[in-house]
Amino acid sequence: QARNDDPLILMHEFAADMYHHILLNTEEGQAALDYLESRGFTQEIIEKYRIGWALPEWNYMEVALRRKGYDDEQLEASGLAIKREKSDGWFDRFRGRIMFPIMNENGKAIAFSGRVLEQSKQEAKYMNSPESPIFQKSQVLYNVHLARGAIRKNRKIVLFEGFMDVIAAGKAGIDNALATMGTSLTPQHIRQMKRFAQEVVVCFDGDDAGWEAAKRAAVPLEEANFKVGIAVLPNGMDPDDYVRQNGADAFREHIIEKPQTFIAFAMMHARRHKNFQYENDLLQYIQEVLQLLAGKSSPVERDLYIKQLSAETKLSEEAILQQYRRLETRSIERSRPKAAESVQAAPKREQK
Ligand code: CTP
Ligand code: MN
Ligand code: MN
Ligand code: MN
Ligand code: MN
Repeated sequence: QARNDDPLILMHEFAADMYHHILLNTEEGQAALDYLESRGFTQEIIEKYRIGWALPEWNYMEVALRRKGYDDEQLEASGLAIKREKSDGWFDRFRGRIMFPIMNENGKAIAFSGRVLEQSKQEAKYMNSPESPIFQKSQVLYNVHLARGAIRKNRKIVLFEGFMDVIAAGKAGIDNALATMGTSLTPQHIRQMKRFAQEVVVCFDGDDAGWEAAKRAAVPLEEANFKVGIAVLPNGMDPDDYVRQNGADAFREHIIEKPQTFIAFAMMHARRHKNFQYENDLLQYIQEVLQLLAGKSSPVERDLYIKQLSAETKLSEEAILQQYRRLETRSIERSRPKAAESVQAAPKREQK
């Protein structure tokens, strides 16, 4: 982690304060402030997360940073300004965007994510700082500096997809909230989370992308021995939508405090686009679920989910259990490299 007096940190701190000041205290910031208000952002929230507004001018930040004495090299490294390719001069990376600073564990700004005011097809909704000596996306978790204390208290993290959701969770009194910066969860993220917690509730958006991402996050978290729960949102909603529509109490009571086990969640997900009238769908479903169970679950869990599979598919528990045993044998063989080699020599059985 960079020192608090690293020039790149100081540049980001300066920019964060400037964006924040423009949002709260100037005429030019008013439209963005109105937008934030319409989304339920109070003055208190805006200050807590140091939210700001980047003016829609070509090089306002570049000029301001130069005036502070920063040179070409530092401007370039910060990612806050970009050198023009075909002509002289520089332009600001962030123009006409609501600015969310990303802070390191010391609470110092190390990067930004800027959101457009109105969504359009031409412009990406969010623009992020590039990687820099002080900002590696694969290592940074949004809100660590504010959440660390609350996380340590219960050794528990609620993980969201976006920082808007972290902020919404904050409104609902959920202070142990983190989010990645637009990447999937990396081993470095998981290692960092391990320092504070032993339990993670994954609460991603209620859409296909969110469900897939939740499955991709849950597996390595379980492998890292976290207790993992999946908090599932109604179709088409993200945590921020849910809090705004149903309120903070409902979000806590019905979503965050009622997480599903990973297997129950994955079963639900595997069922989603399947029609059990079709044999292929049915068989594929059973195979997918058994693969999730193989080698991972306790005997009690196995019994529970095999009963559930049987009820869902109207196939006998005995048949499903037999199928499961075959898979489990294979997964044990896979986890013992030497034994697996001798199995490899035998004709391979079809996986599906
Ligand atoms: N993201 C990104 N670039 C995009 C879209 C998304 O980096 N063009 C990342 C951001 O980190 C964002 C997260 O993915 O926080 C979740 O994206 P999304 O669900 O689309 O955003 P929301 O948090 O729901 O934002 P909003 O409510 O403002 O639409
Ligand atoms: Mn302030
Ligand atoms: Mn999403
Ligand atoms: Mn979302
Ligand atoms: Mn949203």
